Parts: sequence; C-alpha cells; structure tokens
Amino acid sequence: MNYEQEEILKLKEEKNAIILAHNYQTQEIQEIADFLGDSLELCIKASQIEDADLVVFCGVDFMAETAAILNPYKKILIPDTQAECPMAHMLPAEEVKKYKKKYPQAAVVLYVNTLAEAKAEADILCTSANAVQVVESLDAQQILFGPDMNLARYVQERTDKEIIPIPEVGYCYVHKMFNTADIGFSRENYPDAEVLVHPECDAEVQEAADHILSTGGMIRQVADSDSNSFLIATEVDMVTRLRRENPDKLIYPLLDEAICENMKLHTLEKVKKSLMEEKFRVIVPEEIADKARGAVKRMLEVS
Ligand code: 13P
Ligand code: SF4
Repeated sequence: MNYEQEEILKLKEEKNAIILAHNYQTQEIQEIADFLGDSLELCIKASQIEDADLVVFCGVDFMAETAAILNPYKKILIPDTQAECPMAHMLPAEEVKKYKKKYPQAAVVLYVNTLAEAKAEADILCTSANAVQVVESLDAQQILFGPDMNLARYVQERTDKEIIPIPEVGYCYVHKMFNTADIGFSRENYPDAEVLVHPECDAEVQEAADHILSTGGMIRQVADSDSNSFLIATEVDMVTRLRRENPDKLIYPLLDEAICENMKLHTLEKVKKSLMEEKFRVIVPEEIADKARGAVKRMLEVS
C-alpha cells in the first residue's frame, strides 16, 4: 500500500465507510476496495449494506445510482460525477415509454446499464451475468430489451422468446474495439490460451471466443479452468485483477487500448476527497427510486 492508500484506509475507518469498486477500476483502487465485483455482484452487495454510514462507489453513474435506489437512507458517494457510462445514456426513459406503447404486450427487461429514469419504466433489470435467466423467468413471449444490442442478440440465441432490441443500436465503445482479426492473431501467438469475451462484444467476436462471460464469470472461469493461459476481451484492468488472483497463470489482454475512460476518472486523490468532504452524494428523486426499486429487486430475486 502507498501513503495515499493508507490515508484512505484510515479515513474509511474514521468515517465508518466502505468502498465498492467495479472490476474495471485501476489496481490502486482495486486494492483499497472493501468489495470488488461485476455489476450483479455489486448490486447484491449494495442490497446487503447494513452498518456503514458512507458508501463510496468507484464505478460509473448507473452502478452508483442502483446502490442509491437500494439504499434510499444511506449516503452513497461517487468520487467523480463525470464517470458516466455512455451506453446507459443511449436509452432515455422517453424512448422506453414509446416502445411500451408500440408493444403493449411485451415485458420490459433493461440492462442495469441504464439511468434511474429508464429503470423506473422496466419490469425487471438484468446484467450480462443473468440476462438469459431473467428473460426465461418471465411469462411474456415478447421482450423489449435494451440498450445493448450485442447482449440482446446473445440472449436471443439462447431463448425461444422474441427479443426486441431497444434502441436498435445501443453499444459499448470499449467492447466495440475488439475484432476477429485480433483474436486470430492472438490465437496464433498463444495457441493454448482460452479466449474469454464479454457479451457486449460484437457477434463475430463472440462466435470466435471459447467463452462469453460477464466480468464476474471471467474471474470464476480463470480460477476454475485447467488451462494455464487466457486471452481477455474486455476492459484492460480486468486483467489486473485476474493476474493478481492467479499468479501462476498467464493472462493477456486481447487489446491494450480497451480502456473505459469513464471508469478511470476515479483516482485515489478523488476517493480521499470524497471521504473527507462526503461528496458527491448520488441523489435519485424519491418517486423515480421507488418505481425503479421494484425492477432491481425482481432481478435480485431471480439471481
Ligand atoms: P459486468 O457486469 O460484466 O461487470 O459488466 C459491466 C460493464 O459495464 C461492462 O462493460
Ligand atoms: Fe459503459 Fe462500456 Fe464503460 Fe462498461 S465498459 S461502463 S458498458 S462504457
């Protein structure tokens, strides 16, 4: 631990705070987190917070908002308010309402990568870890599903229900960077490596992979597999965690440039400031939070 990290640990104790962090945070933030996980694991953890007075959320806007929806009476803080997931902004609540009018029989399944106002329009949420399970839990045959087009297609291939992607072209700019040429080239260099890709990657990238997994799924796959080497097609700091937890295995990023700049806005300095000044509080208006909470809780019941 460096000096700044030690200071944060002390502050955390003084303030009775906990730090929740997503797997895409930098190594130095990963090291000071009380809990590190994928979107689903972070939702579950956020639903179980009991004693902490403060929660510092090192992730993007939709993740911190979900924690605030689940904990209306707790102070949920985000160190940098600009840490927004662009994909979550691709499906405004108004769009969801329009689609609901057009398809009144359909159930609405929204990816957790949506803003609180959109979540308030959903029947149930999902993450990349449980999307198929969530869709299969519903009675409806027609499902409005958004905003990630690639995840929608991934689900469509694994269910008999009709998946209607909303909007038609929602995507993650980080996972769009991967292509099959990179996979082919890397497989030539590392013929024994298992290729793990995220379901936000394009269809042909998913087809060229050995496993399609959420970031939490990648953690379990690398730990449990008999393989000794892995190529990882998701944000590069996923590799940081995998290497730390599997020192005997060879783990390579498929693309060094796959960086989620939005996640990286959080720094140790900002985390320290956030704890000291109890800023920036994530506020979800009560009527929106109350509506969205049902969809989050339904997902947690299914998971
Ligand atoms: P996971 O739920 O797999 O952690 O993914 C979150 C995310 O934002 C992927 O880009
Ligand atoms: Fe959003 Fe993509 Fe960053 Fe995940 S990696 S937070 S989906 S922009």
